[in-house]
Amino acid sequence: MNCACFILVLLFMSCFGHTTASGSCTPKLENALFEDLLSMMLKIKGTDKNNGIHQHDKNFSAFAASLTAKKILGSGETVKFDKVWTNVNNNYDPSTGVYTAPNSGVYQFSCSVMSGYKKSLRVFLWKNDRKTVAVFPGNHGHDMATLNMVLELKKGDRVYIKQGGTEKYIYTEAASNFSMFSGYLIR
Ligand SMILES: *[C@@H]1O[C@H](CO)[C@@H](O)[C@H](O)[C@H]1NC(C)=O
Ligand SMILES: *[C@@H]1O[C@H](CO)[C@@H](O)[C@H](O)[C@H]1NC(C)=O
Repeated sequence: MNCACFILVLLFMSCFGHTTASGSCTPKLENALFEDLLSMMLKIKGTDKNNGIHQHDKNFSAFAASLTAKKILGSGETVKFDKVWTNVNNNYDPSTGVYTAPNSGVYQFSCSVMSGYKKSLRVFLWKNDRKTVAVFPGNHGHDMATLNMVLELKKGDRVYIKQGGTEKYIYTEAASNFSMFSGYLIR
């Protein structure tokens, strides 16, 4: 019998003794106490189901995705960064390009894009149905621009990268992954 089990048995016995003596150890209290004890002991033993990166932050969320092919974007097209590198909690959907906040909090987002050779590109970071900030790489060759944004979101808020203006040439190379979008919950 290991130490944790021994403590559990001791506590059970003390609670049982208490019940017969004074009747103050109600079944409800007993269950809550034992659930807490059990989860505490599982954590100590490292056999918790959520062991690993999610153990301390069940509500944590982070993603990063890049574009696998260059494209001439449609007017107002949402950019679908299709190669997913990180998707803790699966809140980014590569089939739509939309990140959905799992909970209220403050989030960080970044986007780097490269323009087509001597072509223009403008993309905005959207929050729900509103534009926030944009990037506009130059059109001298393949030029790059990066945006970094911090947003306070409510559960269910949607964040994505969308073409704006008349500039539509987004560039990437399978070998270099120049255009990408990422985000994570700060707290
Ligand atoms: C954590 O996630 C659960 C399930 O979505 C939610 O009920 C709870 O409010 C969240 N906690 C925080 C601190 O956001
Ligand atoms: C870019 O992404 C692809 C997957 O889409 C991957 O195979 C490749 O190794 C990446 N390139 C680099 C330089 O990491």
